[in-house]
Amino acid sequence: MERPKVLLACNADTNIVGMVAKSCDYEVCDENDRQAVLDGLVDADGLMLSGRQRIDSELLERAPRLKIVSNAAVGYNNFDVEEMKKRGILATHTPDVLNDTVADLIMGLMLTVGRRICELDGYMRSGGWTAPVKEELFGIDLSHKKLGIIGMGRIGEAVAKRAYAGFDMDVSYSNRHKKEGADKRYKALFLPLDRLLKSSDYIVVMTPLSESTRHMIGLAQFATMKRDAIFINASRGPVVDEAALIEALKTGKIKAAGLDVFESEPISPDNELLKMKNVVLTPHIGSATKQTRDAMARLAAENLIDGALGKRPANIIPEMQ
Ligand code: GLV
Repeated sequence: MERPKVLLACNADTNIVGMVAKSCDYEVCDENDRQAVLDGLVDADGLMLSGRQRIDSELLERAPRLKIVSNAAVGYNNFDVEEMKKRGILATHTPDVLNDTVADLIMGLMLTVGRRICELDGYMRSGGWTAPVKEELFGIDLSHKKLGIIGMGRIGEAVAKRAYAGFDMDVSYSNRHKKEGADKRYKALFLPLDRLLKSSDYIVVMTPLSESTRHMIGLAQFATMKRDAIFINASRGPVVDEAALIEALKTGKIKAAGLDVFESEPISPDNELLKMKNVVLTPHIGSATKQTRDAMARLAAENLIDGALGKRPANIIPEMQ
């Protein structure tokens, strides 16, 4: 059998290249360079990328042999799923291996924002600590507070577990479906979105981006939140109307935010969020530990190889199951 050819458009290290090379010919290109991706796809059976290129009809048109696109990411909002289905091209992603790492970052953001760690670090470095810290710089507790999780998928559950078992938080969640057993495991209440927004001290968005979740949190939702609410987004930027978030933070509709994702990435240097003291920002690094990124790359490579060889990969996206 002819060896399939695959295009590695993500940062594949030598282990990943070695895995792929055992059964496929390969070419490497820069994912950010759309033209290079398009050129490399002319004779490719498979494509692996980290989710930064849109897999749409323009690209698929240029890829007559393509059988599989493997995202080295759990999110796959870069896929035009209908277009891929129409052409019989498999789409895979990397669920599970990043759950704990992303949930750890979310807990870190909640603590950092609630206890104002970055702000107080800046205060010390600028020589502000000359007397005991005054009440204006006190934080907000995490333990025993109410946590509302929007999107109770695998990562949402990993957050619920930490919050309930480690911080005695009252967990509630809003999701398309009630999560079997979440009431027993984390005493988690299944609530409609508006009730969750109204009652939570910390609100974590962890829902995938789709046409139905785009801007699902906007002016009306921020207005529903408590004025002391702390808002965390580590899913996808466009789930939140960023202009409305900035407005809510500026006008005191909510207290503060911790953000790992943005409507436009990398963030523009003149984005107002960069100047706001009540915001903690991280550059889309939810899964960015060496161990987890290696595990994601391995899983994505396995999916790619199986798909290119005509076998059924383990992590086909739910819409194609
Ligand atoms: C990261 O954002 C991912 O979807 O894996």
